[in-house]
Formats: sequence, structure tokens, C-alpha cells
Amino acid sequence: MYVCVCHAVTDSDIECAVAGGCCSLRQLSEQLGVGRTCGRCTRCARETIQDSLQPRASQPSRAVRFVAA
Ligand code: FES
Repeated sequence: MYVCVCHAVTDSDIECAVAGGCCSLRQLSEQLGVGRTCGRCTRCARETIQDSLQPRASQPSRAVRFVAA
């Protein structure tokens, strides 16, 4: 889904940016241009950042536990 139409930024783009360390609207704006033109996307972009930062409880942990033999 497009979050920022002016800069053709999707929710997947935002999720990738968050996975790469982006954690604020300011950083997202600097990286992808979100909110720099009309500004209508800022609320949705902020919510998408927050959703992307939440731990995914429904997915199994990818952590690997090593047990000494
Ligand atoms: S929709 Fe994002 S700046 Fe216009």
C-alpha cells in the first residue's frame, strides 16, 4: 500500500527503512522524502513506523539457543 503518494513510498519501503535502523519520521523523511511535499502522509507514516518497530508476537522467534553438550 502506498503511504506517501508524492514520493511513491509504500509500507514495505518503510518497513525496510525501519529494519535498516530508521526509527523516526524525521529520519524517514531524510531517507525517502516522506512528508516533504504535501504532508498528508505523515500520520500514516508515523503509524507504519510504530507498527514496524513493534515486536512481532505472532511470528516465532528466530533466536537460536546453543546448549553446551
Ligand atoms: S503524500 Fe507524502 S508528501 Fe504528499
